[in-house]
Amino acid sequence: MKIAIASDHGGFALKEQVKAHLTERNLEVLDLGTHSEESVDYPAYGKACGEAVVSGEADLGIVVCGTGIGISIACNKVKGVRCGLCTSVEMAHLTKQHNNANVLALGGRTTAPELAMAIVDEWLDTEFEGGRHQRRVDMLDNM
Ligand code: RB5
Repeated sequence: MKIAIASDHGGFALKEQVKAHLTERNLEVLDLGTHSEESVDYPAYGKACGEAVVSGEADLGIVVCGTGIGISIACNKVKGVRCGLCTSVEMAHLTKQHNNANVLALGGRTTAPELAMAIVDEWLDTEFEGGRHQRRVDMLDNM
């Protein structure tokens, strides 16, 4: 499985840690930047990650900015993206189980690395439940 990952400067440090974590899990990582703490614009990185997922270049995506809010808004503007911003393991579970989130958003300044890795693992390891949730996910994809 290939995971696309992108951040702005506010999410750079956590992105690097998540990237190492994914590699430890033997997952292929497509790092779309940014590559330093120099100030950049999160909409461009959210868009790039969303496009990588929707085009099939990557199977799933992870985006990180300071809060995860701006980059998740940007990513969700790409048609076909279902990006869930998660601040707890329970949210990570539910955003895969109910929303079939194909991109996970994290806040580099608001979520501690240990919790972030637990969120990533829960999201990766949870299956979409389908059933009554499928129709709603289809509605999202057809907006
Ligand atoms: C950048 O300073 C900051 O605004 C950004 O990382 C993010 O938190 C936006 O939602």
